[in-house]
Amino acid sequence: MSAPIDVNMQVLISEEELRTRVNELGKQISADYAGKPLLLVGILKGAAVFLADLLRSIDLIVDYDFVAFSSYGADKKSSGVVRVLKDLDVSVEGRDILIVEDIVDTGWTLRMSYLRENLLARHASSVKICALLDKPSRRMVDVGVDYCGFVIEDRFVVGYGLDHEGRYRNLPFVGIVG
Ligand code: IMP
Ligand code: MG
Repeated sequence: MSAPIDVNMQVLISEEELRTRVNELGKQISADYAGKPLLLVGILKGAAVFLADLLRSIDLIVDYDFVAFSSYGADKKSSGVVRVLKDLDVSVEGRDILIVEDIVDTGWTLRMSYLRENLLARHASSVKICALLDKPSRRMVDVGVDYCGFVIEDRFVVGYGLDHEGRYRNLPFVGIVG
């Protein structure tokens, strides 16, 4: 059987650090939305693992759903189009929504999907963004990240839902591919 984890993998954020920080985020979100039901909207596929843990650290009436956008490779900037592959299954009208993303890098996904604007146009009460990771040095378009787990350097990271060519999503930590 081949080893699931490359020996060259460098741990950037350990399982323990992830658990601690996700719990902190959950506490902060629970306090900020105190008494209000919350809808988490995860962006597939990367955010699924983070959302699953975050959800269980939130002490509110909480539901979740997912959206999926096409990945558009290197031409995302020139095409400026993000196709919706999966829309929400639930109504957002009158609801407080927290978009859950694995990582905000250039910012193009959140900008070009117009997700926040779209949810507000469908009469969501409020829409905020929670990202596990933020790489601000790579930002090309401004997106307001309201809750952020960790600010990281410009390194390509995997694990805890993040992939490299479909691999490593199952790592319990965030690592750097060697
Ligand atoms: P953005 O549109 O450039 O902000 O990119 C956001 C998306 O690109 C994330 O949701 C990830 O799917 C992917 N991505 C960006 N940086 C990384 C990384 O370091 N590792 C894995 N995926 C990444
Ligand atoms: Mg993603």
